[in-house]
Amino acid sequence: MLFVALIFLRVWWRRCSVIGGGPKNLPPGPPGWPIVGNLIQVILERRHFIYVVRDLRKKYGPIFTMQMGQRTLIIVTSPDLIHEALVQRGPEFASRPADSPIRLIFSVGKCAINSAEYGPLWRALRRNFVTELINPTRIKQCSWIRHWAMEYHMKRIYKEASEVGYVEVMSNCRLTICSVLICLCFGAKISEERIKRIESILKDVMLITLPKLPDFLPLLTPLFRGSVREAKELRKKQLECLVPLLRNRKAFLESGAKVNEEMVSPAGAAYIDSLFQLEAPGRGRLSEEELVTLVSEIINAGTDTSATALEWALFHLVTNQEIQEKLHKEIVETVGKNGVVTESEVEKMRYLGAIIKETFRRHPPSHFLLSHAAVKDTELGGYNIPADASVEFYTAWVTENPDMWKDPDEFRPERFMEGGDGEDVDWTGTKSVRMVPFGAGRRICPAWTLGTLHVNLLLAKMVQAFKWLPLPNSPPDPTETFAFTVVMKNPLKAVIFPRTN
Ligand code: HEM
Repeated sequence: MLFVALIFLRVWWRRCSVIGGGPKNLPPGPPGWPIVGNLIQVILERRHFIYVVRDLRKKYGPIFTMQMGQRTLIIVTSPDLIHEALVQRGPEFASRPADSPIRLIFSVGKCAINSAEYGPLWRALRRNFVTELINPTRIKQCSWIRHWAMEYHMKRIYKEASEVGYVEVMSNCRLTICSVLICLCFGAKISEERIKRIESILKDVMLITLPKLPDFLPLLTPLFRGSVREAKELRKKQLECLVPLLRNRKAFLESGAKVNEEMVSPAGAAYIDSLFQLEAPGRGRLSEEELVTLVSEIINAGTDTSATALEWALFHLVTNQEIQEKLHKEIVETVGKNGVVTESEVEKMRYLGAIIKETFRRHPPSHFLLSHAAVKDTELGGYNIPADASVEFYTAWVTENPDMWKDPDEFRPERFMEGGDGEDVDWTGTKSVRMVPFGAGRRICPAWTLGTLHVNLLLAKMVQAFKWLPLPNSPPDPTETFAFTVVMKNPLKAVIFPRTN
């Protein structure tokens, strides 16, 4: 009996450990363990999931499955399959998978552009965001906000350098971009202390919503009740911090909308003004909770991504003075030594554009897109893709692939100039997928023009005003770490000198 039991156990184990293939015809994947699939193996690796996938790609190639407890992840790494799924068959892969209980607390049941399933609610929220915040007229109308925040940024970094001898790039860029986004959302200028508080709460929200064990194995949920409690407390803090801002705005609109020192945007110019009016399908007029979720996603989505790009761009300018000088020359030739770097001027700076593109190629802020899901059971690359699987597009590989890029590890902005291997690249991925830092197709980042505008402007202003050098005896370290985006493990610190010539 023992012998029969052992044979039975072995057959059962072998059957359960095979991932992919079989009657379900899922893409192949690393063998797992019964019930937990690959979950324990990933945990035992003790490194972030993006690095585990980077290695698995070498073995399993363009499309593979990872069984993480009860959740099936389909990882897509080939540019052709990414293009097929996101662009050619965009509507089929434009949904989002189910959210964890903690994420549902913060999204008030998926009432956010990034988490809403493909359908009328997502369409209405996204359309409203694009027409109200990202249209060229609004971007122009709000240019004073960027001007104000960036002037303040320049003074702040100069002060920091005078006091401590160097500038910490990431924290300063985050603060400035966050203040621009808060002003765009609420139409209000608020104190630095308050901005820092919002920034810190939103960072905590991002961290607490990262996947946890019960998201993969719901039977463990009772053991993690403390996390749900913690999430609810954080949500309360987030509401306490942001609800007064939206109430102030409402009171301002209802009392004649007379612009003043704090309420600086006229009626209609703040994102929240449009949300007050919105009739959201299936929800009607939005509640305060839903409004907080919608503005928080904008501040979250736009802050870390852009600040990460700036930190990596400056890392390369600090470690490669030749590139920095070439950029400075272009800025001076375009606006003069002391001229004002405006939004229309940065559009003319081709080398600046090439540096930004090379930064997004070499250091895409996120190595995966947000999780996608198929709207119904379908197939991709000859395999079945169930509607309840998370489809993860590993886009970082596309820009590391030596078949697509010459010397992909090198930082060479010139590749985006005339005659370079990236000259004609379409970074929205519409024609083909060679770099897609913003995703592609239906769910492409709706604010990629605004995000790149922030990065372009800040970088041009910082290089026009200062020469950036490494800290003596402490060269910048390019080791990466995952902190929602992929940032420098040791944040960049640089010495600055005002440019006199
Ligand atoms: C320049 C830096 C930025 C980068 C690299 C970036 C990147 C991305 C990526 C990769 C996605 C996911 C696309 C997908 O799932 O297929 C995304 C989505 C999104 N981004 Fe951005 N983003 C940036 C700036 C911004 C800014 C400034 C905002 C807002 C002001 C913003 C708002 C959003 C929103 C709302 C979504 C969800 C779109 C949807 O699900 O339909 N992003 N972004």
